[in-house]
Amino acid sequence: MATLSVKHLLGIKYLDEKDIQLIFETADHFKEVINRSIKKVPSLRDITIANIFFESSTRTKLSFELAEKRLSADVINFSASQSSVKKGETLIDTVNNILSMKVDMVVMRHPNPGAGIFLSKHVKASIINAGDGAHEHPTQALLDSYSIREKLGDVSGKKVVIIGDVLHSRVALSNIFALKLQGAQVKVCGPKTLIPKYIESLGVEIEPNLRKALNWCDVANMLRIQNERMEISYFPTTREYTQQYGINKTILESLDKEIVIMHPGPINRGVEITSDVADSSQSIILHQVENGVAIRMAVIYLLASQIK
Ligand code: CP
Repeated sequence: MATLSVKHLLGIKYLDEKDIQLIFETADHFKEVINRSIKKVPSLRDITIANIFFESSTRTKLSFELAEKRLSADVINFSASQSSVKKGETLIDTVNNILSMKVDMVVMRHPNPGAGIFLSKHVKASIINAGDGAHEHPTQALLDSYSIREKLGDVSGKKVVIIGDVLHSRVALSNIFALKLQGAQVKVCGPKTLIPKYIESLGVEIEPNLRKALNWCDVANMLRIQNERMEISYFPTTREYTQQYGINKTILESLDKEIVIMHPGPINRGVEITSDVADSSQSIILHQVENGVAIRMAVIYLLASQIK
């Protein structure tokens, strides 16, 4: 059986192109499974997985839990806000206590960049990073590329623009790594204050003009403004941000071609994207969510095969 080159999924940075193709081929199989009337396989009946979330989540948390249950794994869920973390327990103590209950794999979302990497060095379990601060969100990038592949046939050679708050976005960084590994061309577009200074060193071009970015691309991946990670103002007002970097039906209809619209969610309707775009036939936002389950099944299945 083909295996991944890694024992944990800590970031796309640690994968190679073969890993991504293996995850996609495995996800193809699981996507077929979850569209059957019986959506479950017995593959991981002997595996126990803990989902530990130190930050709020809708899509990622539910998608991982569903993926684990579709693979017949035993699942326990931990939410920091209702736990003994509130009493001062450390991350390592928390996870080691969970692991002593014979847990094999940990899916973790944490506000601190590098939290998953830190944990992988201190505990004996396979770790999946479900988003660490503004660092990486590897399964989101995998499901995003998988959705582009499904819609456009391939990722290689496609032109993708990532628009908005790139500075605070783990989705942006993981997407850049994943898209570049697969041979896509990538640009970023947004206010100068929300574009990291190092971004060009990743082989990405900056296009400050939204219309030019949209005319260039095959796919536009829209990002939410992450107010919760901002301690200062990065642009004058939300209204001005929307005027310069928000997409709406009028601007899309004025382009030479029909482009694909993506968004990792949660969306802020009327800020970075209007409802008539988010809900249009050009948007694949809900397909991204659907594909998240198959991608997460594939990642869990492939990492679990190294535990057994
Ligand atoms: N895309 C994403 O990570 O959404 P959640 O924060 O709801 O998990």
